[in-house]
Amino acid sequence: MIKKDIQILNPDIKNDPTHEMALSVLEGLSSRPKSLPSLLFYDDKGSELFKKIMQLDEYYPTRCEAEILQKYSQDITSFVSGEKFNLVELGCGDGAKTILLLNTLLKEKREFNYVPLDISKAAVEFLLGNLEKEYGPIPFDVLGLVAEYFQGLGWLTENASERNMVLFLGSNIGNFNRPTALRFLRHLWHSLNDGDLVLIGFDLKKDLDVLYDAYNDKEGITKEFNFNVLDRINDLLKGNFKRENFQHQGLYNIQTGAMESYLISQCQHTVTIDEVGKSFKFEAWEAIHMEYSYKYLQSDIDSLASSTGFKILKNYTDSNGYFIDSLWTVCK
Ligand code: AVJ
Repeated sequence: MIKKDIQILNPDIKNDPTHEMALSVLEGLSSRPKSLPSLLFYDDKGSELFKKIMQLDEYYPTRCEAEILQKYSQDITSFVSGEKFNLVELGCGDGAKTILLLNTLLKEKREFNYVPLDISKAAVEFLLGNLEKEYGPIPFDVLGLVAEYFQGLGWLTENASERNMVLFLGSNIGNFNRPTALRFLRHLWHSLNDGDLVLIGFDLKKDLDVLYDAYNDKEGITKEFNFNVLDRINDLLKGNFKRENFQHQGLYNIQTGAMESYLISQCQHTVTIDEVGKSFKFEAWEAIHMEYSYKYLQSDIDSLASSTGFKILKNYTDSNGYFIDSLWTVCK
């Protein structure tokens, strides 16, 4: 019988959703430069806005990765051994690209459970809806997990007894700096078995104009995506951020190799956040750092894999050479 279920692993959602958030906002806005954790982007509204970003002409990563999965999903799935396996997807979003892989697996009559994980419950529900639209009754077991990445790895450690293939697509890894990426990948390695597979999407270094446009779109959706974090703090933590006091800017930092997103205060003002119990002064032109989107060289990918216990089986790239889905295997 086909099973379909959603489990909430994120204790913050179940218990007190504002407490952890208040602490992380306190920590970020007390830092210099000020920052906010990029985790805060993905409430239900933020996930909705990110879906819009993925449809923008300027936002090339989604199209590049769809091209890769369209072309190579058969080659990718040929590396999965015969037994039934878990297909675990970290940060699944709407799963639109994953359906390309799922269809190939179905065509090849492979047996698998699909375990999509996302921090937004609405995203997981939307994905299940998408699967039903695609298949009618879904022809494989699905367990949706609502959790942060590291909580998802905890689930994997306890449940990864069979064969596993882990998807970490869309350059989600780009939000991590190098130490965090290493920590994450080594944690992933620990939670998997020898011979398990991982497919990771890396956005490559490229023409700066292409990067700039992708993170400063004409329609202002990326700006909305950033302002949504302020709205969310206002709503949940009783803050009084005013959008009109800030401008949004995405910038490429050659030193860090990342697109970095900022909200810049245009005037001197003070923001009070009741649930944090504190006011924060902004000087004119003081910035809040919102997000890193690290861009990779092939050599960065090679060194990440070898320093965390993985072997690269194959790199798949799009016709522009903008993006790589890198297929790794766990070596124990
Ligand atoms: C979901 C982290 C891959 O960094 O490109 C898109 C998020 N931010 N536009 C990225 C994002 C602004 C996206 N990731």
